[in-house]
Amino acid sequence: KAAEEGIWNFSTYTEKEIFDIPQVIENVFSGRIDFESKTIKNETLQELQNHDIEKIEIIASGTSYYAWYIGSYYLKELWNIPTNITISSEFLSDTFFPDKKTLYVFLSQSWETADVRESLKIVKEHGCLTFGIVNVVGSTIARLTDMGLYSHAWVEIGVASTKNAIAQIAIILMMALALWQKRWLQHSISRGIIEEIPALWDKINKILLNTHKIEKIAKEYAGFKSLFYLGRNILYPTSGEASLKCKELSYIHSESYSAWELKHGPLALVGEDFPCIFLNTKSKFYHKTISNIQEVKARKGNILWVISEGDTEREYYTNIIEVPETSEYLSPFVILPAMYLFAYHISQELWREIDKPRNLAKSVTVE
Ligand code: AGP
Repeated sequence: KAAEEGIWNFSTYTEKEIFDIPQVIENVFSGRIDFESKTIKNETLQELQNHDIEKIEIIASGTSYYAWYIGSYYLKELWNIPTNITISSEFLSDTFFPDKKTLYVFLSQSWETADVRESLKIVKEHGCLTFGIVNVVGSTIARLTDMGLYSHAWVEIGVASTKNAIAQIAIILMMALALWQKRWLQHSISRGIIEEIPALWDKINKILLNTHKIEKIAKEYAGFKSLFYLGRNILYPTSGEASLKCKELSYIHSESYSAWELKHGPLALVGEDFPCIFLNTKSKFYHKTISNIQEVKARKGNILWVISEGDTEREYYTNIIEVPETSEYLSPFVILPAMYLFAYHISQELWREIDKPRNLAKSVTVE
C-alpha cells in the first residue's frame, strides 16, 4: 500500500518485494477463505479431502524447505496428521518407501529446482499422490503433479526469496485449515486462526513502516562475523529461514539452532562477539526460551530479542525488535518480515549486491 501511494522509494527489488508481503498474503487468502462462515472455499482443497491420506511428506529446498518446515506445524497440530520433512537432495540420495496413503507435497517457488523436479519424477513413477505448491503458472513441473495450488506471489526478482516464502507458508496454513474441516468441524483453534488472519495485513504493514528502527539496530550487527539465530517449536524453522536470508544477503556467517539445544554444545560459542538473535514472541514455550536467554546473558552474550509488542519481561536483552502480538501459529508472518528487513539493512550497510548475491542464482537447475 505504501508503495502504491508512492511513499517509499525502493532502492532494490528485494526491498520492494519485502514491502509486497501484505498484498501477497491478501492474494493467497482472499477468495479462498470465507471469513463469515470461517471455512475454506477452494475446489482443490475440497477435492483433497476426498482422498484417504494418512501421512504427508513434503520435499523442498532452501527457503521452500523452511517454509514447509514452518507449515509442518500447521499440518501436525491443526490437521492432526503425521508429517515428515525432507530436503530434496537428501530425498534423492535416501531410500524411498512409496506409500499410497501418503500425500507427497512439492514446494518450489520456481519449479526449476532440479532436485525437486527429480524427486517428483521418482514419486510419480511409483504412482503415489502428488501435490504441488508453485508460484509460476503453467510451469512444466506444476503440470506434472496430480493437484496443487498457486501461491500468487507474482514475479520475484530478488534471488533471496521473501514474499514468495511468506506466500508458501500461507498456502500450507490454508491447507491445514481446509483439511481440518473434515475432521473437527468446531475446532476452536482453527476458527480462531481464521478470525485472526484479517488483522495480519495491518500488523505486517506496521512492521514495514518501522523499517528505520530495524535499520538502526541492523547497523549495530553489521560488524559481527557470526550471528546465531535461535527459536523453539515453530520458531525454530523460522529462525532457520531468518538465518538463511542473513547469509544470502549479507554474507555474514549465521547459524540457526533450536534454543533447546544450546546446552548440548553451541553454548560454548556464546560470548560478546557472537550475538544471539532469539525469536521469542508469546507462545507456549516463551518462558522456556527465556531461560535460554538468561543462560546467554550470564555468559555476557549480546542478545537481540525479537519480542511481542507490549511484552514486559525485558531485562535480558541488548537490543529488541518488537513485532505485533499474534497467536503462535501466525507468529512467522510477523517475525519473518522483520527479520527480512534486518538482513536487508545489514546488507545495505555492507554494500552487498542485494538483488543478486554473489555465487547465487535464482533457480538451481542442476543436481
Ligand atoms: C531463497 O532465498 C534461496 N534463493 C534458495 O534457498 C531457494 O529457496 C532454493 O533454491 C529453492 O528454490 P525453489 O523454491 O525455486 O525450489
